[in-house]
Amino acid sequence: MLARATHGGSAIVAVEVNVSCPNVDDRSRMFAHSETATAQVVAATECGLPRWVKLSPNVPDIAAIAGAALGAGAEALTLTNTLLGLALDIDTGRPVLGAGGGGLSGEGLHPVAVRAVWECRAAFPDAAIIGVGGVASGPAAIEFLMAGADAVQVGTATFRDPRAPWKVLRDVTRWCRKNGTSVDALRAGACSRRAITVPE
Ligand SMILES: Cc1cc2nc3c(=O)[nH]c(=O)nc-3n(C[C@H](O)[C@H](O)[C@H](O)COP(=O)(O)O)c2cc1C
Repeated sequence: MLARATHGGSAIVAVEVNVSCPNVDDRSRMFAHSETATAQVVAATECGLPRWVKLSPNVPDIAAIAGAALGAGAEALTLTNTLLGLALDIDTGRPVLGAGGGGLSGEGLHPVAVRAVWECRAAFPDAAIIGVGGVASGPAAIEFLMAGADAVQVGTATFRDPRAPWKVLRDVTRWCRKNGTSVDALRAGACSRRAITVPE
């Protein structure tokens, strides 16, 4: 495996294992839709580096899949990949993307990913969790931290503005200063609320 071959003495500190890619032939059967398949992939990717397993929001019980990943040796959960989506060209009635459907990212995904973080934090108080989905501003990142994320990734927003991650960090820092809090305090607050569940 590439990670195992290259990490000796390199700057690579972890490997993200994407078990939730939407761009595969059989989208309804991605690894992250199955506890068994997720555990098998995690077991097969042991490489001496921490593995962050990236899960799909397209499941009814993401905490169950997260449990399988953690049980198989994942050091962290990345929550989440994109939602399965489809856009049609109304002149032709055909899918806009060449491969048919695709993954919905950005603002529309954000509340779905926040809920995934919240539910996994409630189920796994000690797990390392990275929140990703629709972060283009400080408030969206703070929401992830309050839901229980230890760290936040910025994806789609960097296509529009490559400085987006830096701006998000700046805004989070300012918000924390203004509100007399810190990222660590937000994380601790999320852990202390872990008994609260989202109503069905
Ligand atoms: C164009 C595009 C390509 C992506 N490629 C990958 C990929 O190769 N591997 C992966 O794990 N996630 C991939 N993602 C998912 C993102 O990493 C991220 O999980 C998702 O887009 C939600 O975050 P965002 O709303 O900040 O983009 C991709 C997303 C987009 C929009």
